[in-house]
Amino acid sequence: MPALRKIIIDTDPGQDDAVAILLALGSAELEVVGITAVAGNVPLKLTEKNARKICELAGRPDIKVFAGAIRPLMRELVTAEEVHGKTGLNGPELAEPAMKLQDRHAVDFIVETLMGEESGTITLCPLGPLTNIALALIREPRIAPRIKEIVLMGGGFFEGGNVTPAAEFNIYVDPHAADIVFRSGIPIVMMPLDVTHKALTSARRTQAFRDLGTRVGNATADMLEFFERFDEEKYGTDGGPLHDPCVIAYLLKPALFKGRHCNVSVETTSELTMGMTVIDWWGVTKRPKNALVMRDIDHDGFFALLVERLGRL
Ligand code: RIB
Ligand code: CA
Repeated sequence: MPALRKIIIDTDPGQDDAVAILLALGSAELEVVGITAVAGNVPLKLTEKNARKICELAGRPDIKVFAGAIRPLMRELVTAEEVHGKTGLNGPELAEPAMKLQDRHAVDFIVETLMGEESGTITLCPLGPLTNIALALIREPRIAPRIKEIVLMGGGFFEGGNVTPAAEFNIYVDPHAADIVFRSGIPIVMMPLDVTHKALTSARRTQAFRDLGTRVGNATADMLEFFERFDEEKYGTDGGPLHDPCVIAYLLKPALFKGRHCNVSVETTSELTMGMTVIDWWGVTKRPKNALVMRDIDHDGFFALLVERLGRL
């Protein structure tokens, strides 16, 4: 089956990023043109290494992995080792990667790919802070109309924030980059906490990965068992939210999600609400509807897709 979509995954692995990457690599409908790492959950030297570890776990050492921004545009880097562990990928024992990191900077790769490929054929899938995407738009504004769409995990509104009462981590880390992306005019599909907090793992769901009886299944179960403990304690839920795989699942089965086109604006001045995504869900402003904001998910269908596709690796 020819790949239906060419994608660049921009990521800060992160166990949930890892599951998203595995979902993409287990799906023939998608061609992963490259993976660009950004500083976020853990520093860049770890996110780029983790991206390579996941490609090797998937049996895909051919995938090109690039290192991007080492810190946000304006603010100091904020990381999340308390969630993801010191390595950013705590849980499974994964060998040091043998595959090489690409020499080109991630931002150059994004710009050169978008300028070189046929216009409208590349989808960007940011799973972390939007620093690389914003830098690419600044470096070469001509890429904006050439991007098919941006499908991103970030933000929140009805659910509030997860790093401050107002802001979700990816947006909070680099609100200025997020502001550039949401003002870009590029078609955006947004997976905020309002939907990802409904994509909860559970002991039964984690066991389904282990029951695959494969290296990928066991590593995924190990990652989820580590990753979910933080949110279980924080929210008192059985299981943790699988944020980033929602992005890839949307590309594969958009009908799993429900949402609406709204204006999304990013707070970049007040420290109290820095990084808040103000989603005009009820259309009370005249601001442009710049994003398709998802709020509901068929979580059984989502997990069935995940287990089935990871079972192919
Ligand atoms: O707030 C959740 C997001 O922040 C996810 O992308 C997770 O991986 C972290 O990057
Ligand atoms: Ca992430």
